[in-house]
Amino acid sequence: MTDALKTFYVTTPIYYVNDVPHIGHAYTTVAADCVARFRRLKGYKVLFLTGTDEHGQKVQKAAAAAGLEPVEFADKVVKRFQDLWKDLRISNDDFLRTTQPRHIASATTLWETVKKNGDIYKGEYEDWYCTPCENFLTETQLKDGKCPDCGRPVERLKEESYFFRLSKYGEALLRHISENPGFIQPENRKNEVVNFIKEGLRDLSVSRTSFSWGIPVPGDSRHVMYVWFDALSNYLTAAGYPGHNRMWPADLHLIGKDILRFHTVYWPAFLMSAGLPLPKRVFAHGWWTVDGNKMSKSKGNVVDPVATARKYGVDQFRYFLLREVPFGLDGDFSIKALEGRINGDLANDLGNLLSRTLSMIEKYRSGVVPPEINAKDRVDLEKDIKGLLETLPKDYSDLIGGLEFHQALNQLWVIIRKMNAFVDKASPWKEKDEETLSNVLYTLAEGLRIIAVYLFPFMPDSSDRIWEGLGMEGGIAGRDFDKEVAWGGKPGAKIKKGPPLFPRIV
Ligand code: MSP
Repeated sequence: MTDALKTFYVTTPIYYVNDVPHIGHAYTTVAADCVARFRRLKGYKVLFLTGTDEHGQKVQKAAAAAGLEPVEFADKVVKRFQDLWKDLRISNDDFLRTTQPRHIASATTLWETVKKNGDIYKGEYEDWYCTPCENFLTETQLKDGKCPDCGRPVERLKEESYFFRLSKYGEALLRHISENPGFIQPENRKNEVVNFIKEGLRDLSVSRTSFSWGIPVPGDSRHVMYVWFDALSNYLTAAGYPGHNRMWPADLHLIGKDILRFHTVYWPAFLMSAGLPLPKRVFAHGWWTVDGNKMSKSKGNVVDPVATARKYGVDQFRYFLLREVPFGLDGDFSIKALEGRINGDLANDLGNLLSRTLSMIEKYRSGVVPPEINAKDRVDLEKDIKGLLETLPKDYSDLIGGLEFHQALNQLWVIIRKMNAFVDKASPWKEKDEETLSNVLYTLAEGLRIIAVYLFPFMPDSSDRIWEGLGMEGGIAGRDFDKEVAWGGKPGAKIKKGPPLFPRIV
């Protein structure tokens, strides 16, 4: 029995609306979806949050360039994100826009609380600012006079500003990081953050007067909140803040490596100041290059997830993203690699296994999954497959828990390849002995049924198709993972052969 009170709150960054969705956005969101779907199968009540970051100078400028009001501009781009998530079968429970009243109320309350606790004061800011990164920089941080992160030109800013007393929180942050070894992952990212904090934290400018597209600072509407103060508080908003915090603290913030500092220094410091618990874990994944090059609009090599999923298939694209590169490391996207995975892992291995299994059940058992009979002469490989599937639940759960998606898939493919070898070796079509043949066919059908459950978080539609192909009804969502991955499903289902699961790319 699963415990109905278990909850899991997972987030993606909220994406800027100055740009249309690309592979980087799809990557984090597909990973979060995989985690959310897995936790639901494990009986957790899940809150999976994604959304859009709509304020700030960058968005204001992009809207002006398009001849639109910021809000009109945002409405258009938001729709593109929402449509993409639908296409990619993203199962988010909430979609937060920072322009929503519930969020404005939450960010405002967070500001007021931090101010009341003595951590916000008025001063004057003079420094460099990188608008694409929405980040303040000192003279010494600049690289050849440009932003050290994105390499673009910076602007000199001098204005009255409210400051957050970040300098006060260095020690508390270091203590929290050392007492909670799982707080920042992977390990190398944690070291980066620790070194950054040890260099000394400066107070952070958290308001601006040079533009107006933002949440007004409470009590001083000449200022708008710094877009990161506004944006980070989205995670609280969706949990119910400032009302009843249903789901806070978050179990997992998934982010890209470029926004690590915001999530592991600024955000926890704001929360400490407000007397709120910190998120349990922040995991920063790596970046995709394209054919070995940095992805950029100017190079014209931005990977469009909409077109890619349309051409190659949604599940094929999801599979590639999580299989190709260990989560946490940088990776390279190429059409060759994508096609290689589709033709190899998906068409040759998994698709072929399903179609062979269904054809044999049709041919030798009139399309009905036979029972397992306790035959004396079990083929060794048959025992092997069963054995591997019986030990998998723990390994698989640990791997998904550790966000080692590629390893979880690797382990499944070891079994899938063994099953194909089993078909070759057992050559059931030549088998005379009826009992052995029944066992062979049951092992294949049962193995595939279990594999469909494991694959569901990664490839929901294809998993359901395998499930239905094996004659089962109702799909996989809403089922109990532990129960379904146990060997011993009922025989007797009438299979349904359909078109190839993963057509080969020629
Ligand atoms: N609005 C902020 C996040 C605020 S969260 C409180 C933001 N938005 S963004 O639209 O720029 O989001 C970018 C996300 O996409 C980041 O997690 C970033 O790491 C990711 N990626 C951008 N380019 C990427 C690649 N080339 N590869 C992988 N992820 C990339 O930052």
